[in-house]
Amino acid sequence: MTLKFRTRKLIKPEDLNGRNTLFGGRLMSWIDEECAIYCACQMKTHNIVTKYISEMNFMAPAYQGDMIEIGVDTVSIGRSSLTLSCVVRDKESKDELIRVEKLVFVAVDRQGRPTPHALADKASKNLAEVA
Ligand SMILES: CC(C)(COP(=O)(O)OP(=O)(O)OC[C@H]1O[C@@H](n2cnc3c(N)ncnc32)[C@H](O)[C@@H]1OP(=O)(O)O)[C@@H](O)C(=O)NCCC(=O)NCCS
Repeated sequence: MTLKFRTRKLIKPEDLNGRNTLFGGRLMSWIDEECAIYCACQMKTHNIVTKYISEMNFMAPAYQGDMIEIGVDTVSIGRSSLTLSCVVRDKESKDELIRVEKLVFVAVDRQGRPTPHALADKASKNLAEVA
């Protein structure tokens, strides 16, 4: 599978921390949102919740005016879950800001219980079919 970089962001003053570099919480929010949209499209439901996010290691800072891009890939498909990986990098230099190996989203019913999603029947098939 291949990371698909669909979303780009321009770092603005309101995105900065006290050192005037990109605030980590802002980047985490962008990652969560991008992955949730990716999952909603793949799972064909908006009723999804973030279940698990693995270690987040911020490797390089970004500065006001930088353009970054967020890439997402499918790692595995479960009955109610979809597991992704995510990379954020500088759009021009391609230097990685962060790599998150595992983010799990779960489709839920109206009561908030896990429920099968649209890809569930493809769980055992080749991931390339659902890219
Ligand atoms: C998401 C939630 C409904 C799952 O409930 P649960 O009792 O853990 O459900 P299950 O044990 O049946 O697991 C559901 C799926 O998540 C997966 N899962 C559960 N815990 C996991 C973990 N720690 N890591 C990876 N996957 C996990 C299970 O493997 C299962 O996948 P599958 O159906 O594709 O096989 C519940 O934990 C919840 O509501 N959490 C809060 C979600 C939320 O509010 N997110 C926003 C945070 S601000």
